Amino acid sequence: MKKSADTDSQGAIALLKADHREVEDAFEQYKKLADGDYTKKKQLADHICDELTVHMTVEEEIFYPTVKSEVNDADDIVNEGIVEHAGAKVLIKEIKAMKGDEELFDTKVNVLAEQIEHHVKEEEEDMFPKVQKSKVDLLALGKEIEQRKSGLR
Ligand SMILES: [Fe+2]
Ligand SMILES: [Fe+2]
Repeated sequence: MKKSADTDSQGAIALLKADHREVEDAFEQYKKLADGDYTKKKQLADHICDELTVHMTVEEEIFYPTVKSEVNDADDIVNEGIVEHAGAKVLIKEIKAMKGDEELFDTKVNVLAEQIEHHVKEEEEDMFPKVQKSKVDLLALGKEIEQRKSGLR
């Protein structure tokens, strides 16, 4: 299939970027919550963790393997992504196991936000441009990602 700006706008990268913006917004909302509002904090933190888990799963199962096999000189950046995901998963697991009122809860969420901000920057500035220059069919890949995402929810 031929690539065009139009198909790109609904394709894999547009989808992944939309997830990134959604999670960034949720982290921003988290920062605005009142200090003692543990119920809302826990709710929003769990939502962020669940969204990130789905996002990382589709990247690891579908997007990253395609980038590795079809994009030149992308192995290192994909491997870095995999290792950064693993780091985020440690914090996600800890946050999910907490109640929200613990002393380190906010700090864990804030450190996760920082890690994700760094990771997203690398994907969007280093990895995605390489993919956009390649022959990967982003529209087909986007459909595959969408399907997997609905299976994960
Ligand atoms: Fe991502
Ligand atoms: Fe990622």
